[in-house]
Order: sequence, then structure tokens, then C-alpha cells
Amino acid sequence: MTGAARLRACVTGWPISHSRSPIIHGYWLNRHRINGSYEKIATPPADFASFARGVGVGDLRGANVTVPHKEAAFALCDRVTEAARAIGAVNTLWREDGLLWGDNTDAEGFARNMEEEAPGWREGARSALVLGAGGAARAILHALLSSGVERVAIANRTPDRARALAEGAGSRVAFQDWRDVETKLGEVDLLVNTTSLGMSGQSELALDISVLAPRAIVADIVYVPLRTALLEQALRRGHRVVGGLGMLLHQAAPGFERWFGVRPVVTPDLRALVEADVIAHTGGAR
Ligand code: ATR
Repeated sequence: MTGAARLRACVTGWPISHSRSPIIHGYWLNRHRINGSYEKIATPPADFASFARGVGVGDLRGANVTVPHKEAAFALCDRVTEAARAIGAVNTLWREDGLLWGDNTDAEGFARNMEEEAPGWREGARSALVLGAGGAARAILHALLSSGVERVAIANRTPDRARALAEGAGSRVAFQDWRDVETKLGEVDLLVNTTSLGMSGQSELALDISVLAPRAIVADIVYVPLRTALLEQALRRGHRVVGGLGMLLHQAAPGFERWFGVRPVVTPDLRALVEADVIAHTGGAR
């Protein structure tokens, strides 16, 4: 620990009580012996602009932003990174030369987790199918396109959202009718669930993946439970699978580096710590 002033960062959302980001950043602060703190701050939508004005002022070095403030954060920033611009949302705030900056690290988090849990996935993934068309889908679409995936199809319960996302994303991205997803699976190398289906307390994603080619990878961004029914089904069928927790862990690293000056590593110890917390809150369900 140094004698310098204590540095603060936080995550804000509405609600925010469920956030596991303090466990992640607390682990890294401790590991790097940084005199800092990372807390949860609940900010109702009406107060978000005033919250954002305080980022980078005084001892608050920066903030993570979560639901429902990511689009508002994007709109309030003076400068945004290329990823944030492509996604249209910001999850990481800091201040530089008096200007409020925003980044979106979800795409990087997804891609790094894919690399960790399905090494070499890019070479085999020419065609992907994304389920969902919300904020998470936008980030993952950006990650897939930046990683060189040639064709991405987007299916969503509300078709207009998928259509709008596909139309704004260029010639490599196509709309896919939600009702025909099971048939479409036969053509894809990578399936990604970005919907909240399968999350603890929500309905299951009722999808028969039997037409998926054996080489296909199945990814799910849900991490409560740690392994969704979709991933269980994929594992039983012998597919490589990628869970959602790693995306959460990896998206946190760039913010920590900006605020505290050290690039942290997603270690097995950190993963175990957050997994234990998830398991404790899901009655042991994995
Ligand atoms: P996020 O930022 O996590 O992506 P979101 O923008 O609220 O959150 O998006 C949630 C996604 O889960 C959407 O694609 C949503 O589909 P709709 O656009 O039709 O709402 C999807 N989703 C949520 N509940 C669903 C359900 N019961 N069946 C199918 N899709 C569902």
C-alpha cells in the first residue's frame, strides 16, 4: 500500500445490488496492493447525468455502467472509443484532460473469453448465428465482425429489433426468422445466445440443436447458472462450449487498467471466487 490518496472506482446501474463487479475489482486491487476501492452505486435514471458529471472529478477515477444506463452514458460522453461508437453504448467511463471518455469493453470481453475457452475459434468460425438483438447482441456482433467472421445471422423474438440490427450492420449480417432457427443451425459454425433465456428465474431457451455440425461451438452469455441448459445440451452432443462468466471477467480488465494503471489478469483464482458467489446465490445450481 502506498501513502497516496485512496483511488475510487465504481459500478453504477438501477438496480445494482446483483453486480459481481466489486468482487472482480476488489480481487485485483488486493492482488496488486493498490490503495483503492470499487463500490456499487445505485443511480436512478433521472440522476445518471449528474452521476456522469462527477466521474474523473475528485478521487472517483472512473466507473462501469450497466443496465439501464449504457446508452445514456454513450450520449453524455465527450469522446468515445471506436468500439463504443460501433456498439452505440458505453460500459466504462473515465476522464482525460477534462473530457469524459467512454469505452465499451463487452466485445473485447466476449472475444477474449472465446479465445480462452475455445482457442482457435476464429479459424473455424465462418458463419455465426446470434440469438437476441439487445445491447449484448450489439456488442457480440461487433466482436464477431472484428474477429473476421464472414457471415452473421441475427434472430430475435421481436423480429423488428433483429431486422434493424442486421440492416445497420452491413453486408456480412443478415436477419434470421426466429421461427426457423433450428433449421438454420445446420449451416453455422458458432451459435451464441445473448438473450436472457436460460438465466435463473427466466424461461429456458427451448432449442433443439441436433442439426448443428459436430464442429460447431455453442456460446451462452448467461452465467447464472454457470452452465445453462443450452450448454448442457451442447456438451452432451460433444460440442465445444463457452460460458458467460468469462465475458464478465474479461470485460472488467480494460477499465481497471485505465483507472488504476495496471493491466490485471483473469486468473483461475478469480474465476473460482466469482463462481463460488454465483453458486451460493443459485442454491448450488451450476
Ligand atoms: P441486453 O442488454 O442484456 O442484451 P436487452 O436489450 O433487454 O438486454 O435484450 C434482451 C434480449 O433477450 C432481447 O433480444 C430479448 O428479445 P426481445 O427483443 O424480443 O425482447 C431477449 N428475450 C428476453 N426475454 C425473452 C423471451 N422470453 N423469449 C425470447 N427472447 C427473450
